[in-house]
Amino acid sequence: MRPFLIAPSILSADFARLGAEVDAVLAAGADVIHFDVMDNHYVPNLTIGPMICKALRDYGVTADIDVHLMVEPVDEMIVSFAKAGASMISFHPEASRHVDRSIQLITDSGCKPGLVLNPATSLDCLDYTLHKLHHILLMSVNPGFGGQAFIPETLDKLQIVKKMVQACGRDIRIEIDGGVKVDNIRAIAEAGADMFVAGSAIFNQPDYRQVIDAMRAELAN
Ligand code: DX5
Ligand code: ZN
Repeated sequence: MRPFLIAPSILSADFARLGAEVDAVLAAGADVIHFDVMDNHYVPNLTIGPMICKALRDYGVTADIDVHLMVEPVDEMIVSFAKAGASMISFHPEASRHVDRSIQLITDSGCKPGLVLNPATSLDCLDYTLHKLHHILLMSVNPGFGGQAFIPETLDKLQIVKKMVQACGRDIRIEIDGGVKVDNIRAIAEAGADMFVAGSAIFNQPDYRQVIDAMRAELAN
């Protein structure tokens, strides 16, 4: 397994040219495509749904698609995204009435399950779920928008989650989402993350490869 995964968030891509944008970022060295789903209910913004995920698959995208559900309720969207070709699906536990059932639904649908924790969400929800998860997504901004600043307290939280994962003894990915840039990715990795979502840092630059290479160089140091 590749130690560090870089997952560009297409939230900051040019949606009028989405297929070409995904091709470009994968050609530039991205590992996974991060797909932000917002419903103007759980979060105050509205983005893209399963039809767009399926459209990317039909267009020919074979890379893993990491669906981050910022919707409430979650279960119907889990099923729809699994059918649409999602690889990983994560949801916010407070948006599901039955968290364990939703995790099981992701697994049963053939996808890799994850839980997403907001900056102020406690880690308690991992107590009885951690061993069932493929990934934990720690939000380092409040969900809803790209281009926000990294919340530094997340570094302490990452260290705690890393210890929990080590104690659990399973190979669970620790993903970080929000405000990830070339100049902070190394500190984030040192705190325990091994999968990095980056939207504006990549798509707001003309040369995606230059940014991804710079991130990998930081991670290699
Ligand atoms: C925020 C989304 C993030 C966001 C990251 O709710 O979950 O994936 O797009 O964007 P940047 O990297 O610009 O903070
Ligand atoms: Zn996200």
